[in-house]
Amino acid sequence: MNKEKFFIKIAIDSPAAAGAGTLAKLISKHYNLFYLDTGKIYRYVAYLKLKHPKKFNQKFIKLKIKSLKIKDLSNKDLLSNAVSIESSVISKLKTIRKLVHSFQLKFAYKPPKKFNGSCLDGRDITYKIIPDADFKFYITANVNTRALRRYKELKALNKKISYKDVLKSIKKRDKNDFNRKISPLKKTKDSILLNTTKLSKRQCFLKIKKIIDRKIFN
Ligand code: C5P
Repeated sequence: MNKEKFFIKIAIDSPAAAGAGTLAKLISKHYNLFYLDTGKIYRYVAYLKLKHPKKFNQKFIKLKIKSLKIKDLSNKDLLSNAVSIESSVISKLKTIRKLVHSFQLKFAYKPPKKFNGSCLDGRDITYKIIPDADFKFYITANVNTRALRRYKELKALNKKISYKDVLKSIKKRDKNDFNRKISPLKKTKDSILLNTTKLSKRQCFLKIKKIIDRKIFN
């Protein structure tokens, strides 16, 4: 690929709080890619369920997803523990996944023109949403490290939660995400494994950058 102009699609799957979001943002900024945190869309649906339990049906979700804007996904309420757990429950449902898929596909394959491509992270991106991605990564870390990172993030947001509860919540979500029948979290054979447990953000970023640069600038 040529240095000035390229179009790449990056697919990342990872369990909760493994650092995938942070890395995806750094990579997207570096290569000028459109970044979509797909977990936020499931969180948004979970948030709607908790906020409007009586209205929560397929028609309601369809309408909400149709009018969903990227900026709606930065709502801080989507980060609460209740929303986290509920998101891993509603994401097991085929009907909900189908509705969320079209939103993701649009941004994966047709990001706004000013970008050099797209970078999506989630649980089924490498094999369901962008099976033909130019780069596929499976980012993981030890469960205690993940819980500690998420605990620190939540504390920084002034959320009242203990480390023990965060660990419990992450284990529960792992169980749901790895074991569900539809689109479970898994590492595909063609994904590059990156274990972030003992690495700094910078070290992880450089590892990914090296892999991408080797392919696009050669
Ligand atoms: O990535 P994040 O932890 O914010 O995702 C919240 C939940 O959304 C996950 O626990 C998972 O159940 C669901 N999810 C999914 N498929 C994706 C992204 C997230 O099922 N592509």
